[in-house]
Amino acid sequence: MSPPEPHENLSPPLAAPVSGAPSMSAPIVTVHSTKLQGATAAALEICDLLDAKPDAVLGLATGGTMVGVYGALVEEVQRRGLDVSRVTTFNLDEYLGLDAGDPRLFRHFMDEHLFVPLGFNDAQVHFPDHVGARPRGADAVDAARQYEEAIQAAGGIDLQLLGIGRNGHIAFNEPGSSPRSRTRVVELHEVTRRDAAETFGGFDETPERAITMGLGTILEARALRVLAFGASKAPVVERLLRGAEDLDIPCTFLRERHGDIAVHLDIEAARLLP
Ligand code: GLP
Repeated sequence: MSPPEPHENLSPPLAAPVSGAPSMSAPIVTVHSTKLQGATAAALEICDLLDAKPDAVLGLATGGTMVGVYGALVEEVQRRGLDVSRVTTFNLDEYLGLDAGDPRLFRHFMDEHLFVPLGFNDAQVHFPDHVGARPRGADAVDAARQYEEAIQAAGGIDLQLLGIGRNGHIAFNEPGSSPRSRTRVVELHEVTRRDAAETFGGFDETPERAITMGLGTILEARALRVLAFGASKAPVVERLLRGAEDLDIPCTFLRERHGDIAVHLDIEAARLLP
């Protein structure tokens, strides 16, 4: 199978939004003194959601930004004694071309930071490259279509966590991604591969392809919670909150297309904001 263009929309748009995203209003931006405080704020909101809705559907992200969120979430779920056995999760994305069990898979990251500590079972968690019990290595284009169906069958995502890449990517929606894009196979951008190169022992060893929820898929979640920490994210944070929509900076498609966005920043990530 030849790889598709990064911005190609492989799965047909759903006839209607899964969740009916709320009408537009300005994002709520909170600048925290430390990234731990920002991560904890997001974790506490998730706990409040799980308290109110024990069968909530969570959209989850990976990356260094999320480590503190999941640490705080595990702690707070345990402190409150919440039952998470009815929670369903959908992760944003996964690398293609790695062996099952490779510790660099996002699935491994999630196991380590969240799923194992909270005792999630395989039936609760979903990744786009192998929906539920789907065997790894099955056709990725088919898996992408099934992922959209699985999200819809779960009733849509209640709360979606999002980080931002330095190039403005959201999940693995790289520059050039359509705001209407759906779950699909993508070629990773050079900046994305450079940022991941240390994990993979060099740029040439870094995967070239991944499978990701589309921007259109993400925008259907009922709530979006965006986190960005550190000075390297300041330029994209400025574009996220103040820039015009720009196909080259995918995060710019969030602000005016969703009515329930909260953004958690630390002081460094907010340094270009007025
Ligand atoms: C990866 C993920 C993104 C994440 C980004 C930022 O590329 N696909 O979903 O937002 O990393 O990572 P970090 O939090 O390490 O800066």
